[in-house]
Amino acid sequence: MGIRRHTAVTSAALLATVLAVTLAGCDPIPGGGVISTVGEVDFDTPLAIPPLAESTTDADGRRIFDLTAESGETAFRSGAATSTAGFNQSYLGPTLVAEAGDEVVVNVHNELDESTTVHWHGMHLPAAADGGPHSLIEAGDTASPSWIIDQNAATLWYHPHLDGETERQAASGLDGLFIVQDAAESALPLPRDYGVDDIPVIVQDVRFDESNQFSSDVQGYIGAIGNELLVNGTVGPYLEVTTDLVRLRLLNASTARSYDFGFADARMFSLIATDGGLLEAPVPTGHVQLSPGERAEILVAVEPGETAVLRSTPPDLGQDAVQAQKNAGADSFDVLELRASAVLRSVATVPETLVPMTALAPADAAVTRTFTLSDSTINGKRMDMKRVDAAVTLGTTEVWSVSNSMAQPHNFHVHGVQFQILTVDAEPPSPELAGWKDTIFVPPGGQIRIIMRFDDYSDPAAPYMFHCHLLTHEDDGMMGQFVVVRPGELPAVELESMDMNHGG
Ligand code: C2O
Ligand code: CU
Ligand code: CU
Repeated sequence: MGIRRHTAVTSAALLATVLAVTLAGCDPIPGGGVISTVGEVDFDTPLAIPPLAESTTDADGRRIFDLTAESGETAFRSGAATSTAGFNQSYLGPTLVAEAGDEVVVNVHNELDESTTVHWHGMHLPAAADGGPHSLIEAGDTASPSWIIDQNAATLWYHPHLDGETERQAASGLDGLFIVQDAAESALPLPRDYGVDDIPVIVQDVRFDESNQFSSDVQGYIGAIGNELLVNGTVGPYLEVTTDLVRLRLLNASTARSYDFGFADARMFSLIATDGGLLEAPVPTGHVQLSPGERAEILVAVEPGETAVLRSTPPDLGQDAVQAQKNAGADSFDVLELRASAVLRSVATVPETLVPMTALAPADAAVTRTFTLSDSTINGKRMDMKRVDAAVTLGTTEVWSVSNSMAQPHNFHVHGVQFQILTVDAEPPSPELAGWKDTIFVPPGGQIRIIMRFDDYSDPAAPYMFHCHLLTHEDDGMMGQFVVVRPGELPAVELESMDMNHGG
């Protein structure tokens, strides 16, 4: 059993919350209270490593993958198995790996008893292959999106994107990693032996009911709040480390919860990559905060024979203590124990520099758009599959200014491109936000400005999405659509102005 005592602790906290709510009589959102598994995780199960997806090469040199979305049962802990879903297995999916320049085809078979879609989060690809809510795969059907990998080495991921159902399907286990490699990354002395010194760390918070089924009963404004973690689907995971430097690819695959990852002994590590790939240089730090959908790659040095516990401490959601407690902002988790062997191989080093990045200039932006996130809406509108909110001109740079008008946390994700962050609340981004990103936290009452280029893949009929990646918000309507069109071309779909276009 991975967790010893916290179930009792959280039941007590829950009871206290329920009592408080009953006494107050008016709060429909009790939230999660304060959850902590610090010191209470046994770390008695080897960390599961998602298998590498097998691929074949067809006559045209295309790399072909097969993913089958299926439902199943997974034994996470003693007692009854949990009803789950996964790709090619009962929970989560294999890790796809491809090189820049590869043409890939992914045959996605839907063996669920309902429709789904599979979206390639962070991928630069044609909208028709992006797997958004328009790319329905009916039960029993197969879709075969194809594209050429054309972006920096990065840790990307895939998950369903069914209109209004993304949270439920993603939370059931339909999530996996897609690692992009390229020559610049391969030339660096980084750990890259998958499952040995290059480790996927897919973090999800869950809550088991008395029958061991996933429960979303405890809700904050952010959505369902779990009280324990799965890492790659493992409860209480440890990892045998055999090298003196290990690369962790952290993915916050939670539907609602943000994490602030660090180590129990407060050791420093090197942040080397964020959503869209490597930073210009490693950033020495003691913690990295990830909101849902964000990724970070870190290099952690270990000494022979020691253990080091990856821990998440309360993230800064920009809320006061009361609100933070309602939104999983006061919680701490022991995540993963690294167990270093008595003798460690030395195969990698922390490079001085990584890959150069040319800053995009706001002066080059053809358009600045403004987006305001508010209750289940963007610019006052809920997602409507039939409404396209913006037409971006192929070959242009755009600045998007995103404001959160609420006292609640949100984040913002754009499909099809990686962006650079210009400002967070009018300040230049901190070093950990200075690289390529596709998802960014937007603090309560805050504003972020991002800049991106739309150089490829115009299609007046196939929209990309932009949305909050707190999936219950996305499902509730905090999502919009844009198309990329050639200069002078009109979108093939009805374009309703969201009053967010400002020349300049
Ligand atoms: Cu990871 Cu539109 O999503
Ligand atoms: Cu995405
Ligand atoms: Cu949100």
